[in-house]
Amino acid sequence: MIKFENISFGYNDHKVLDGVSFDIPDGESRVIMGPSGSGKSTILRLILGLDCPWSGKIFIDGLNICGMKLRDMQKIRKQIAMVFQDGALFDSMTVGENVGFYLLEYSDKKGSEIEDEVREMLHFVDLDPDIIDTLPEELSGGMRRRVAVARALLSTNPRLMLFDEPTTGLDPQATENVLNLMIKLREVKNISVIIVTHQIADALKLTSKYIVIRKGLVVFDGNIDQLRDCDSSEMSDFLAPFKKSIVEVVNKKIV
Ligand SMILES: Nc1ncnc2c1ncn2[C@@H]1O[C@H](COP(=O)(O)OP(=O)(O)OP(=O)(O)O)[C@@H](O)[C@H]1O
Ligand SMILES: [Mg+2]
Repeated sequence: MIKFENISFGYNDHKVLDGVSFDIPDGESRVIMGPSGSGKSTILRLILGLDCPWSGKIFIDGLNICGMKLRDMQKIRKQIAMVFQDGALFDSMTVGENVGFYLLEYSDKKGSEIEDEVREMLHFVDLDPDIIDTLPEELSGGMRRRVAVARALLSTNPRLMLFDEPTTGLDPQATENVLNLMIKLREVKNISVIIVTHQIADALKLTSKYIVIRKGLVVFDGNIDQLRDCDSSEMSDFLAPFKKSIVEVVNKKIV
């Protein structure tokens, strides 16, 4: 469903991705990892067509999105739900308008129906549904993030969900709720999830396949067992802090 073919891209003169290739078949999910600044968020922006690669091709459902007309790109974007790393919300809209945004824009549902769904989703991410009329600026960082997750989850039938560090700043219970809902959405609706996270143990609940980006390249593309056994020199220092949780996760799976 998503294919990166030899993608190079950067900002101004600074090259960030230097020949990145990977392939995510329909219905499959991936965790993207890599050091800070390696280009993880950049990859998600490219998938959304918010930036255009310097060279290479990006295929979504077999269509090359590079240079695609805005109208065609918008059709593709409608099928993608994204939670940005900074949990970007529309500041002039209330929490309710933010969370119900996609339903208000793209569905024929009545206002009262949308409000019920918004309240249910706020409750799910452990927010008080009565904050519906509050403006985002009145909320804490963690609360804003949960509103952003709620908005993405309530978008109209996404086929692909992109999450950039979705659980950062959430307490364990809220993290569990968000992950469980993602798992449910993926299993029931067969939605592909691409998640950027450093929480390997949490990520494994969503998918067992990992892509690691480093110095502009994909240095790993495989499953958790291969990740545990990986001894490439490019990966060892990056993986060192995660080794313990990878081994724990693999052991739990075997038990
Ligand atoms: N809009 C921008 N203009 C200029 N440089 C940018 C821009 N966005 C990102 N960069 C640079 O591109 C590189 C990759 O950024 P990116 O946000 O994709 O990294 P990341 O892997 O998501 O990092 P982190 O884990 O810290 O979120 C960084 O060096 C960053 O400074
Ligand atoms: Mg990032």
